[in-house]
Amino acid sequence: MASQKDLDFTYSTIDKIFRLSMGETGDYSGAMYNGDFSMTLEEAQRQKHKFIADSLFIGPGSKVLDMGCGWGPFLTYVKSRGAEGRGVTLSQGQAVACRKNGLVVDVKDCRTVVPADYGMFDAISCIGGLEHFCSIEQWQAGQQDAVYANFFKTLSDLLPTGGRFYMQTMVFSKNMPPFEAIRLDADPRSDAYFMALMIAQFPGSWLPYGAEQVIRNAEPHFKLVSKSSGRLDYIETIGQWRKRFRAFNLEKYATYASLLPKLLTNPSFRGLIATFRKSPNRVCFQRELMDHYRLVFEKQ
Ligand SMILES: C[S@@+](CC[C@H](N)C(=O)[O-])C[C@H]1O[C@@H](n2cnc3c(N)ncnc32)[C@H](O)[C@@H]1O
Repeated sequence: MASQKDLDFTYSTIDKIFRLSMGETGDYSGAMYNGDFSMTLEEAQRQKHKFIADSLFIGPGSKVLDMGCGWGPFLTYVKSRGAEGRGVTLSQGQAVACRKNGLVVDVKDCRTVVPADYGMFDAISCIGGLEHFCSIEQWQAGQQDAVYANFFKTLSDLLPTGGRFYMQTMVFSKNMPPFEAIRLDADPRSDAYFMALMIAQFPGSWLPYGAEQVIRNAEPHFKLVSKSSGRLDYIETIGQWRKRFRAFNLEKYATYASLLPKLLTNPSFRGLIATFRKSPNRVCFQRELMDHYRLVFEKQ
């Protein structure tokens, strides 16, 4: 799985820039336009929050765990519905920001949460976290199914029968290039090159092979309630993020400038900047190297 160092690289590095671009508790996961691109990004994110909360029957007093809570967008929403939310993330920067914004968040590996930590929950969400659970090395060692099966066992222990879990995740899709071809020195127009940039942006992370792999590993404990692709909605989301990351703000541009020394000395960091310029995730969705799924599960 991606380590705390990997996730701090991906998320804590951009903490201030993200909050200045997307808002203090902005979402860093695909929004839900349902194909209506006349909506603003904020409306589409709100529509996603409502869909998740409705699907999980979250209301006043519900006890909700948000695994991989980011900067706390869904926790903020459930609070507005009178629910009691708790988040866990592996990014220090996110946790500090969440607490500053009045949210209850720990730095903790969500895959290790047990009832002794916080008790049981009425509902659990994991919005864009599963992408980080399996590393390339674990996949190569044939452990990917076991990683997901263990995760669903953890969830099952935290929910009562009938309790619901929502997740959305990127997955590899039909045009995924062979692993051996994925290299940063591949032809810069090729699928293999864009996939290599994705891997540089998210070190320690390897995606599931389709929604089917996730659903299969959930099966001993959970039945699938609903499944929908958010691929086209994600392409729109990324386009909107690009505009917001570029929008001028003095403090933000000063922060970009303060990162320049790292840019000159650290090759991993240069890779991260390249991903911001070229938006490999958007290209991977457009070329169907990747898809994106929203899945609602119920504990049997
Ligand atoms: C793409 S962000 C999504 C954040 C948030 N859910 C949202 O929708 O804005 C992925 C999040 O998963 C977290 N994460 C990844 N692996 C984790 C793990 N094993 N335990 C806890 N958090 C994890 C990252 O720290 C980050 O907050």
